[in-house]
Amino acid sequence: MRPLLLLLLVATGCDDCGATDEAEPVAEALPASAGLRSVADFADIADERERSAALFEEMGKVLLHPRCVNCHPAGERPLQRAGEPHQPHVVRGEDGHGAPGLPCASCHGEANFLTVPGNPHWHLAPAEMAWEGETLAAICEQIQDESRNGGKSMDELLEHMAEDELVAYGWEPPEHLEPAPGNQALFGQLAREWAATGAHCPREAAE
Ligand code: HEC
Ligand code: HEC
Repeated sequence: MRPLLLLLLVATGCDDCGATDEAEPVAEALPASAGLRSVADFADIADERERSAALFEEMGKVLLHPRCVNCHPAGERPLQRAGEPHQPHVVRGEDGHGAPGLPCASCHGEANFLTVPGNPHWHLAPAEMAWEGETLAAICEQIQDESRNGGKSMDELLEHMAEDELVAYGWEPPEHLEPAPGNQALFGQLAREWAATGAHCPREAAE
């Protein structure tokens, strides 16, 4: 084990390592799509623009979830758990992989390990993709804006949401963290239908 990580786990005492046992049977009893409606559930909204915005509202249950927002923070520091500042204090650094002395990879490995999330590409979303504190309408505009979404076309954006490994992490966090609602496939289908109906955004007033 990495010495830093060991130090950290000892320091935090791994306070809820054993706390998930009781919750497990409940989680297993729920269907994989729990908490997220499917495309078919929106079929009865006749107006296409309204249907599109409603689909995005549903996607918002994922986009605004801490498993996503914690990595799309407004400031220099990642968030953790329900949106608290990351402990210890780390910063995004030049490319989102952390400061030279304390890169993300010194603790975050290739896969989850005990209470430490892991992924081969673990790093922060750039500042122009910050979602923390934003309305869903603002996020809807931002992810479609090629000057702020890493130059992604709509097709690339849809593929990113449906296939990207870092996005996939949202549904597969360590056991002590609540996964994003539904699953990535369902989220990807909602996104494709949202785009097919014109990629309309919810109105600010509806927030
Ligand atoms: C010293 C070790 C350490 C370093 C370095 C570190 N992290 Fe973490 N990070 C952790 C631990 C441990 C957790 C889990 C906290 C918890 O939930 O108990 C965590 C949690 C997170 C979370 C929350 C994940 C979620 O699902 O809510 C994010 C986001 C995150 N780290 C991003 C980063 C980024 C980005 C970097 C580099 C800029 C970084 N971390 C550097 C130890 C570290
Ligand atoms: C470990 C950190 C991390 C987590 C967790 C994470 N993201 Fe990201 N996200 C990134 C990075 C880094 C980029 C930039 C990647 C790129 O441009 O190719 C990004 C970019 C994106 C984009 C591109 C468009 C834009 O402008 O924001 C979308 C959409 C996105 N993420 C969705 C999600 C969703 C949905 C979740 C949760 C299910 C999620 N992300 C969780 C790090 C993360």
